[in-house]
Amino acid sequence: MTLDTRISRRAALMGAGAVAAWLTSPARAVLQAMGRVTVPAFVDPLIARMTLEEKAGQLSLMASAWGGGAAAALNPPQGDSNFPRQVEEARQGQLTGVFNGNGARAARILQTAAVKDSRLKIPLLFAADIIHGHRTIFPVPLAEVASFEPDLARRTAEAAAFEAAGAGIDWTFSPMVDVARDQRWGRGVEGGGEDPFLGSLFAAARVQGFQGADLKSTEHMLACIKHFAAYGAAESGLDYNVVDMSDIRLRETYLSPYKAGFDAGALTAMASFNEINGVPSTGNRWLQTDLLRGEWGFQGFVVSDYTGDEEMIAAGYAKDGRDAARLAFLAGVDVSMQSGLYRKYLPDLVRNGAVPQAQLDQSVRRVLALKAMLGLFDDPFRRIDVKRESGRSMLPKTRALARESGRKSIVLLKNEGDLLPLPRSGKKIAIIGPFASGQHDLVGPWVVYGDDAKAIDLAAGVKAAVTDKSSVVVAQGSGVEEPLAGGIEQAIAAARSADVVILAIGESANMSGEAQSRTEIVVPGPQQRLAEAVAATGKPMVVVLKHGRALALEGAVANAQAILATWFLGTETGNAVADILFGAYSPSGRLPASFPLRSGQEPFYYAHKSSGRPNPTSTPEPYKEHFRGILNRALYPFGHGLTYGKIEYGGFTQSSPTMPLNGTIEVAATIANRGSRAAEEVVQLYIHDQVASITQPVRLLKAFRKIALAPGQSQLVRFTLRPSDLSFLGRDRRPTIEPGSFDVWIAPSAEAEGVRGVFELTA
Ligand code: BGC
Repeated sequence: MTLDTRISRRAALMGAGAVAAWLTSPARAVLQAMGRVTVPAFVDPLIARMTLEEKAGQLSLMASAWGGGAAAALNPPQGDSNFPRQVEEARQGQLTGVFNGNGARAARILQTAAVKDSRLKIPLLFAADIIHGHRTIFPVPLAEVASFEPDLARRTAEAAAFEAAGAGIDWTFSPMVDVARDQRWGRGVEGGGEDPFLGSLFAAARVQGFQGADLKSTEHMLACIKHFAAYGAAESGLDYNVVDMSDIRLRETYLSPYKAGFDAGALTAMASFNEINGVPSTGNRWLQTDLLRGEWGFQGFVVSDYTGDEEMIAAGYAKDGRDAARLAFLAGVDVSMQSGLYRKYLPDLVRNGAVPQAQLDQSVRRVLALKAMLGLFDDPFRRIDVKRESGRSMLPKTRALARESGRKSIVLLKNEGDLLPLPRSGKKIAIIGPFASGQHDLVGPWVVYGDDAKAIDLAAGVKAAVTDKSSVVVAQGSGVEEPLAGGIEQAIAAARSADVVILAIGESANMSGEAQSRTEIVVPGPQQRLAEAVAATGKPMVVVLKHGRALALEGAVANAQAILATWFLGTETGNAVADILFGAYSPSGRLPASFPLRSGQEPFYYAHKSSGRPNPTSTPEPYKEHFRGILNRALYPFGHGLTYGKIEYGGFTQSSPTMPLNGTIEVAATIANRGSRAAEEVVQLYIHDQVASITQPVRLLKAFRKIALAPGQSQLVRFTLRPSDLSFLGRDRRPTIEPGSFDVWIAPSAEAEGVRGVFELTA
């Protein structure tokens, strides 16, 4: 967990040694250096020469007006498509940069206007939503968290930066690190899943991948932690909706991945659209200044989300555009995205004394300092190179990484009778469903520059893996949300002609992402009916799910012999799925978000608290906590995932029945692969504080280890728990550790028993 440097008196007494060690540790020094902004000597004299209008221009970021295309479709339609006018704005010093532009050629024209023709020759900054790849598209971020391998995310972020920086992009609006516990919300697909500990590790890894060790590198770019804050907690999972929560929950659960991202050196933040407890994030001074800068020491700049400042009018917080600009700026949002409110109103607000000139200068200083750190004052064209743009695009090594990350993101939910892996020859295979074949829904949501046409679909991946392509038949069977005339009949015929069915069903790319909340997180009706009809043929069936969220599986889908959660895997989709289907690689993904038993359980997450009437048995009991007819538990919990080996947990040991307040305890288990195939296992450590002055979740992930096991091999896996692992935010909002009993599990998922023990934390 992230260690807060403020500690309670109690924590100070017992943990002082550990805290002191951290405060002086080289690791902390490196992290701090990463997040530090240095302001070059030329910046202040430059600011002194700027007019108020030029200063406001440095705080105004607009969507690229070049050409439209895919980029234009990603935001509400109010972007300016008049490119010559935008070039003129660059000349007039009214722009700090543009986002989601169209490559090096357009960037060169704009940058030339800024650095050759504008009065002060300040370079522009080019931003883009590089969320899971630039041209080579990697799995959606949520999928990649299933790998439980943060370093994989670091590597894909680095590869995305390599391609994108080659195309003139200096700054990505990524990583998105919003904790999402209500899968109705569509944007969970962009983030780190339901668990703040796991999400924090991925947040940090992605920042490191994008930014590298030196922001001047033409192979890296500036990262942006978004959406600050708690955007994922939108009430009822409805995108943009309000957030109202206790500050303990806010700090303990929702804020930690942002903090981890900043600690890893991210130097920009994006304010979220939502309000928190009545105050929009964009106008929230406590959030954007007191906490972010004061408490956390953030030195970079904050940008509003797309027209987020202006939206405070509709939210009933700002009177008009001028008021919105004033409120956002005074709250600590340095740069305004897309509304144009800063360049329209800030100069006058300063003249009238409503906004202090010193604060304006400070925001401009931050922006100019980061432009300098990116090397743009040394060479404004350092990332803009048309030849390099194509020379770095979709290289074999990048595609190979996409395939590796694709197969590591797949979760085997179920595999009755060892139906998987399938043999490469000797069986006729029917691939059925709207996602069986075709260049659609492959790269997934939030892709600006990637292309489905350049991606491998499932049928192509399967055909490349089998020895005889003619053994594969394909039938669409159904549309995604609409039935297909004659589709079910075709599907039944295809299933009957085959020995095994691969049923490729789920969500299309546009069913998750921004503004795509769903009321029910199920497989759409027409596809469910297709599944029922195909299952009725009695043929063995592997469900290959495509999805941007955890789903509630029902009927024939839930009852299929084998189920793979494959999300949106990007450019190498078909090959990655085939690697798993035919056993080139044993599945190693584990769920980063719980699949509930029913859609209506949402919000649903493993780290919930116990009510006073839990229902601990396997059947719903009267007057115990459950929904009518079902237990309030998961069909497939967080952390769940099978492999082709047979993994056994045993031999639990703990170094002592007690742990002193200033000591540690070691717990261990032996993990064995009893199967005949090499496998990887994600060994997870959970704890539960049995009694505390603030009630604690039934389980909390504290550590995990991904291990490789050859057939017949076993490995002793040890974990050390420290006092900081047992601390929680107390009534005084400070890290608190209380003596008492703790359950500990070493287990293959958040609901599995695995092996377990109990220890006593002693005063
Ligand atoms: C999204 C952001 C994104 C921005 C720019 C907004 O609608 O919420 O995540 O970075 O648009 O495209």
